[in-house]
Amino acid sequence: MSHHIPLRKAVFPVAGLGTRFLPATKVMPKEMLPVVDKPLIQYAIDEARAAGIEEFCLVTGRGKDSLIDYFDIAYELEDTLKKRGKTDYLDILQPSVVKPGSLVAVRQQEPLGLGHAVWCARDFVGNDPFAVLLPDDIVHSPVGCLQQLVEVYNKTGGNVLAVSEVPREHTNRYGILDIGTDDGHLVEVKGLVEKPKPEEAPSCLSIIGRYVLTADIMPHLAKLERGAGGEVQLTDAMAKVIGKVPFHGVRYKGTRYDCGDKVGFLEAQIALALERPDLADGVREFLRRYL
Ligand code: G1P
Repeated sequence: MSHHIPLRKAVFPVAGLGTRFLPATKVMPKEMLPVVDKPLIQYAIDEARAAGIEEFCLVTGRGKDSLIDYFDIAYELEDTLKKRGKTDYLDILQPSVVKPGSLVAVRQQEPLGLGHAVWCARDFVGNDPFAVLLPDDIVHSPVGCLQQLVEVYNKTGGNVLAVSEVPREHTNRYGILDIGTDDGHLVEVKGLVEKPKPEEAPSCLSIIGRYVLTADIMPHLAKLERGAGGEVQLTDAMAKVIGKVPFHGVRYKGTRYDCGDKVGFLEAQIALALERPDLADGVREFLRRYL
């Protein structure tokens, strides 16, 4: 057991307009897009639950209320399924219902950036440590990505980020680490820079959408200083607490699918379908015909 405050809270920034997936996202939140048969948001919630998270905060925006409805009891649907004896479907619905009172939502009223979205959850966070999960990233792994961060957090405390190596020409898509000590699994974070040009990137180790953070970050976010792309960047606020709280990156085990990108989204569909005993044969069969 550790002496650090246990991680029980998670923030899910889901206010984005999903422009890259228009027209699908015209009347539907991007986070409700299914990968195989589960919406993106549920992959993130399931991963958080598996890591011991008990309190969930969705940072939503206008037109995204269906994300809140999704985690409620669908009374009429369940009643109809019950009457028809479709208990297998009732089981499938189970994980989409959260414990009473465990999910709250706040509105990010303006799209000012990821840092601003996280700051909008400040009252939910209070003084507790919290996770941030970006539902665009699905991480497929035997041990959930957030759970891997929690195992480190329980030893080190402070901030813990999931990191992975990217090609140098892609550093301008991510938050990038400047690293100190590195044992191949755990890396010490010496610096952080949001979306650096390849020639300016201090390494090729990128942040993916899983964070464990302490509340120390909030006063820095509160300044709402603009960074890369004119946005309030979470990365910039994190950079301010380096040296003040323990700060580590974890080379997590697993495969990340960037579902914010069309090709990444399609790859996730295929890869996760191939993991499913009920679908793998059919999918493999049709893929052969295309390749
Ligand atoms: C955000 C973060 C970035 C991080 C990335 C991971 O960028 O700002 O530091 O590397 O998520 O997916 P975005 O993808 O919102 O541009």
